[in-house]
Amino acid sequence: MTRKAIYPGSFDPVTLGHFDIIKRSSEVVDHLTVAVLDNPRKIELFSFQERFDMLKKITAGLPNVDVDFFKGLLVDYASAKNTRVIIKGLRAISDFEFEFQMALVNQRLDPKIETLFMMTNSEYAHLSSSIVKEVASLDGDISHMVPPELHEIIVNKIKAKNNGG
Ligand code: PNS
Repeated sequence: MTRKAIYPGSFDPVTLGHFDIIKRSSEVVDHLTVAVLDNPRKIELFSFQERFDMLKKITAGLPNVDVDFFKGLLVDYASAKNTRVIIKGLRAISDFEFEFQMALVNQRLDPKIETLFMMTNSEYAHLSSSIVKEVASLDGDISHMVPPELHEIIVNKIKAKNNGG
């Protein structure tokens, strides 16, 4: 049996915390799909294509990882991909309540799908996409928060946004 898993998220933008979960998950499954939520109703800073391309870039060196997108219910997407495992990262107790609720809803919607939680690396416990956007928009240093190959793209995008772009 091939052990496949899906790591879903908005990734607006992807952080070193996300990348750490991607890398560690890819080491314990045969194949990992990083799935970007394409939700036209949610306003993100980075376009769907930009978020997808950033993930492609940082996972290029991980042979058993691919990047995909999904719309609609996560369990429907997982089921269509014949994948039973969803991986979620947990940073703090504050994450737990909402993740617990989502996992229970997903369990109700499709009992075949299992949500597995992976604890953050303590080095990244303070990180989130929102924190990255907040710090960068105030000209703070985000180099310890995002993958180095994305640093410039992310800083430029946030600067452009600040300048009304
Ligand atoms: O990175 P995020 O924004 O925390 O990711 C949240 C995500 C994309 C995993 C979650 O919003 C999701 O699964 N959305 C798809 C819609 C869905 O299945 N909702 C039912 C579960 S409550």
